[in-house]
Amino acid sequence: MRIAMVGTGYVGLVSGACFADFGHEVVCVDKDHNKIAALLRGEMPIFEPGLDELVARNARERRLSFSTELAPAVRDAEVVFVAVGTPARRGDGHSDLTFVFEAAREIAAAVSHGTVLVTKSTVPVGTGDEIESIVRNARPNVQIAIVSNPEFLREGAAIADFKRPDRIVIGTDDKHARAVMTEVYRPLYLNAPPLLFTGRRTAELIKYAANAFLATKITFINEIADLCEAIGADVQEVARGIGLDNRIGGKFLHAGPGFGGSCFPKDTVALIRTAQEADAPINIVETVISVNDARKKALASRVIDACGGSVEGKIVAVLGLTFKPNTDDMREAPSLVLVPALQQAGAVVRAHDPQGMEQAKPLLSGVRFCDSPYDATDGADALVIVTEWDAYRALDLDRIHKTMKSPTVVDLRNIYRPEEMAAKGFSYSSIGRPPVRP
Ligand SMILES: NC(=O)c1ccc[n+]([C@@H]2O[C@H](COP(=O)([O-])OP(=O)(O)OC[C@H]3O[C@@H](n4cnc5c(N)ncnc54)[C@H](O)[C@@H]3O)[C@@H](O)[C@H]2O)c1
Repeated sequence: MRIAMVGTGYVGLVSGACFADFGHEVVCVDKDHNKIAALLRGEMPIFEPGLDELVARNARERRLSFSTELAPAVRDAEVVFVAVGTPARRGDGHSDLTFVFEAAREIAAAVSHGTVLVTKSTVPVGTGDEIESIVRNARPNVQIAIVSNPEFLREGAAIADFKRPDRIVIGTDDKHARAVMTEVYRPLYLNAPPLLFTGRRTAELIKYAANAFLATKITFINEIADLCEAIGADVQEVARGIGLDNRIGGKFLHAGPGFGGSCFPKDTVALIRTAQEADAPINIVETVISVNDARKKALASRVIDACGGSVEGKIVAVLGLTFKPNTDDMREAPSLVLVPALQQAGAVVRAHDPQGMEQAKPLLSGVRFCDSPYDATDGADALVIVTEWDAYRALDLDRIHKTMKSPTVVDLRNIYRPEEMAAKGFSYSSIGRPPVRP
């Protein structure tokens, strides 16, 4: 099938490359000329494991191309996906649909009769109806089905998630669109992911409900972790003890610094705005957001406590800046709250991240960005692990112990065992487990 992907960000690029890999003919369009120029040179605008190879292969085999010209790509396509950004609107937290509606107007001007227009961006309930009226008003005589097909991929595991999804949600009542969408995803039939056909509004809500549920699960275990610290229990064991119950499941039960990223923070806020407007408030999600915000703000005090009550003039080495490993995405990362708070408290911050430093530099001022974790920890008073990159899971702790000024570690991801850290001579505190001393 001929597919146009409008918006070539994390979702558009990964989806476009995977659709091409299924055998479809895909044009990825973006209005960002620099991004398209880089892709045409074979350079990836984002870090995502395996993406460079996937893009290169499909571009070479001429199933995947890139363009800044929306009209020709859309005119020739049987299916047009919209994967533009839907950031939180400043001030009220509603989803900012400027990019979506702008794309819808441009698509409406170029689209051909019978094309299926699919929203992959995360959009509030009712957005499909608004897109439909934009297209109908612009082109009253062409038949275009407007479908919702929310995306559930995770950054860092995006290709595997796209190719082996737990489910594919398709919101439409249109028979032709249903057949076309079945054909789009047909190459996945061997993996047999359930294709869940729903109404369009239901599909739009499923995406928000899924993200809000996962954000709630994380926040739940984070609060249990705080309780563990207060009463001397171990959150890792609690998580395992409850996660082995199939009704609960072990995923998203890792206590940590609070959720961030490009989706959970904005999608939870957008959901509560939708719910408030519909006079059906979702109190649990409102609480999740405020608990998570407070958690991020309190991160610095964990480090200050571990440093004996003050970080004034002390060197703090921060390992990991991105909101999670295997991405260079810094959106809403806990480090963006922690680092300025440490600086405010008088600390000198050094930082290292395997992929995120270029993205982090404009967002964090006064930080010394280091070439390696060892460069960051040399002479430091404290080491804080903020993101659980694999590269930090097997650090040379003896070397770090020798070169740190004071061997204090705050592990916000629980990647080390307290007893081993104590045996290596560190003062070690983590999340939801008793702190240890050498
Ligand atoms: N990032 C994720 O992990 C993820 C996962 C699931 C769903 N989503 C959702 O998918 C959507 C896209 O997210 P993203 O992270 O890929 O965003 P992104 O910001 O990385 O990419 C969006 C791209 O759209 C382009 N764009 C905007 N308007 C355009 C137009 N009129 N024509 C052509 N290009 C245009 C921008 O230049 C940008 O490159 C959002 O709604 C997001 O909530 C994201």
